[in-house]
Amino acid sequence: MALAQHAKRVAAEFDYGKEDLQRGVAEFIREMDAGLKTEVATLSQIPTYVTAVPNGTEKGLYMAVDLGGTNFRVCSIQLHGDTTFSLTQSKVAIPKELMAAKTSKELFSFLAKQIEIFLQAHHEEHYASHVERKRKGNEVAEEEIFNLGFTFSFPVKQIGINKGLLMRWTKGFDIKETVGQDVCALLQEEIDLLHLPVRVAALVNDTVGTLMARSYTSPGKTGTLLGAIFGTGTNGAYVEKLDKVTKLTEDKNAGSYDKSTGEMIVNTEWGSFDNGLKVLPNTPYDIALDEATPNPGIQMFEKRISGMFLGELLRLALVGLYKDAAVPLFKDENSSQNDISSVTHVDGNGPLFKPWGIDTSLLSICAGDQSQGLRVIRQTLEREYGVSAVSAEDAEAVREIAAAIGRRAARLAAVAIAAIVLETGRLEKSTGVVEEDVIDVGVDGSLVEFYPNFEEFMREALRGVEGIGEAGEKRIRIGIAKDGSGVFEILWKWEGIKNM
Ligand code: GLC
Repeated sequence: MALAQHAKRVAAEFDYGKEDLQRGVAEFIREMDAGLKTEVATLSQIPTYVTAVPNGTEKGLYMAVDLGGTNFRVCSIQLHGDTTFSLTQSKVAIPKELMAAKTSKELFSFLAKQIEIFLQAHHEEHYASHVERKRKGNEVAEEEIFNLGFTFSFPVKQIGINKGLLMRWTKGFDIKETVGQDVCALLQEEIDLLHLPVRVAALVNDTVGTLMARSYTSPGKTGTLLGAIFGTGTNGAYVEKLDKVTKLTEDKNAGSYDKSTGEMIVNTEWGSFDNGLKVLPNTPYDIALDEATPNPGIQMFEKRISGMFLGELLRLALVGLYKDAAVPLFKDENSSQNDISSVTHVDGNGPLFKPWGIDTSLLSICAGDQSQGLRVIRQTLEREYGVSAVSAEDAEAVREIAAAIGRRAARLAAVAIAAIVLETGRLEKSTGVVEEDVIDVGVDGSLVEFYPNFEEFMREALRGVEGIGEAGEKRIRIGIAKDGSGVFEILWKWEGIKNM
């Protein structure tokens, strides 16, 4: 059998058809509803205590830090009160050993140290006088303390605007001690040890920041429905009717929140949708990938969609093909039935044989290669992935499988978007005015930014969902909300702080 046919066969394993989509959406809606009622649901549906959006008249100097999957950012923002602001920021990569440290302190003291370095570099005057006074035990005036927004992009049970217990780590982080602890208190403790004039005033997820950023900047009066991240991880936060969030409204121990808008932003934590695998596709590659993670059986939706995992799915599929003696992938075609080792073009110690050795950017490169004979894919495999003499057929096979994995990811992403649009009943409201009928969705993350066909694949799937169709899909406006967690969200935080 020619290589192309083998590649088609593997690609077909990643098919996610119309019926799958339908079942996916129905199950997603069911899990959304369950999550709003009870704590013990796979879809966490976390109330964020955010009930209002900023309006641009806020003023003052604020700080924000952002612990995502890969980097830690620190920034300060001067709000001018006329929708403009000035921003100063710095970014460091989180050392790998801290992601799986033994104690919370190792990670959080590192974070506090970065805040100190930032203050010394950018707010020296402010910093020095405060530290001095605090060390002497003197009172520091309330208005001299920086209010800090903490973007912590992991599942947290939020119990107040600046209080939240870590439910579980995701995206490769694994510090057992932190689970169940208040991450704001952990950070505050380390900040206080350094005598910094900083108060952790608000805790936010990156999806909420994205929703805020988009809502602040998107055209039209309707407000954004959903903020979604398709990056290292995937997740979404949306605007829900407060009376549907019964696990909060009926909880006597819940923290206080503003009820006047009748709405609350809910962080779905959809990465954990269908951990029970009732409806999600489950190829042998998905199974092998899951087993190689620190959290098997968890974040099963995320493991099929987001940037941390797609490269590994591709690697597993390619290694599977390569190891099959009957398949001439990365081998001399005519001798593929013979001794593979004498004809192989792959470095046995190269990235192809190392778990997590393929980066998801390879999928983007495959999807974007318009060159003659797929020259770009061939060069990338040769330069970065230890394969020599890549043939046009090899490159075509890789392209085909990569496209199937990317397409399945985007179609699964559409399941989440479709379910939220349907569950919130947004399509049922129509004023007849095109601009007002828009359902606005803000997105951010490396996949939506760099994977060439992600949105188009998502839209194709949305058109196929019952109850959405072509007319509904046209009403959904998807826009990038860059830098949501760092900038516009601080405006909301200020609103939150005011209401504390
Ligand atoms: C993971 C985290 C979630 C975050 C998402 C995107 O799914 O659990 O909190 O929003 O990644 O960064």
